[in-house]
Amino acid sequence: MSGPGDSSTANQAARAGDPPRHYLTVASLTPDEFARLISLARRMKEEPAAWRDAIRGGKLALIFDKPSTRTRVSFEAAAVNLGMHPLMLRPDELQIGRGEPPQDTARVLSRLVDAIAWRTFSQARLEQFASYSAVPVINALTDEHHPCQALADLMTIEESIGALAGRRLAYVGDGNNVANSLIEAGALAGMHVVLATPEGYEPDPAIVAAARERGRQTGARIEIVRDPAAAARGADAVYTDVWTSMGEEAEREARQRAFRGYVVTPALMDLARPAAIFLHCLPAHRGEEVEEAVIEGPRSRVWDEAENRLWTEQAVLYALITGDWRGEPVR
Ligand code: CP
Ligand code: NVA
Repeated sequence: MSGPGDSSTANQAARAGDPPRHYLTVASLTPDEFARLISLARRMKEEPAAWRDAIRGGKLALIFDKPSTRTRVSFEAAAVNLGMHPLMLRPDELQIGRGEPPQDTARVLSRLVDAIAWRTFSQARLEQFASYSAVPVINALTDEHHPCQALADLMTIEESIGALAGRRLAYVGDGNNVANSLIEAGALAGMHVVLATPEGYEPDPAIVAAARERGRQTGARIEIVRDPAAAARGADAVYTDVWTSMGEEAEREARQRAFRGYVVTPALMDLARPAAIFLHCLPAHRGEEVEEAVIEGPRSRVWDEAENRLWTEQAVLYALITGDWRGEPVR
């Protein structure tokens, strides 16, 4: 018997030519869709049994061109919770690793699986791949974006301190993939996002401009400042990420110099609101972007944040594959 969550239905829809819905950037969502995904993820977390096997027999292809702990395991676990079979495809064992064009790989995988998650370097290459895929493609991190992370981050803020609109999110450090996606997420949720970055390490100006434009409807504000204290003062959440992202290892020494001072310390946290939380996408470097006392301290929510990757990944898979963004429990 086939129902809305049955994988054969999803794949038939894909083959019938209906364009698939991808998740490549946060900004591809409407504010309503973003809120629905967080709400769906929270319901899945509260009542996991209600979603068990909701996409029974489905298949999820996972390709990671860079290392991963959280994203890889949360996608595999989310797929298993939904009754799907995760297929971990090592790039060095795929023909794509020997030069098969991504557009051919996308068309072939589309005939075989119900969704594809890919962690790679170039966002443009991922978008080209997705344009050839008949099934949903999910960005598992690129050099420019980390949209799955931002969903878990804002879910964690909402869980810890309540409604997101009007909240002040301070980001301290590199204007990288994680920062870009947080800006887009804050813009959808109507937040005040203040980023403190050293000169030359600001987030993508096109992303900032588009987020400010979106903020005209949602009430969001996006600010870039130099001084971490100016960002942290009055914040509801303080966020940081590594100084040197995957693929930037050759710049490590220059970055260590540039980011000196862009450290989340207990004193910086004391400038935030009394109930403010600390977030980090992880992996963290204690003694670089964050001090031990903060990440291990009472305001840290990093383990909840890491767990919430599972529930948000599960919500994204469910919504994209079934087309059901309301997410009524299946039993
Ligand atoms: N935060 C995050 O994406 O972690 P991984 O690199 O371990 O997937
Ligand atoms: N900015 C980091 C995030 C890791 C999850 C990186 O790209 O390496």
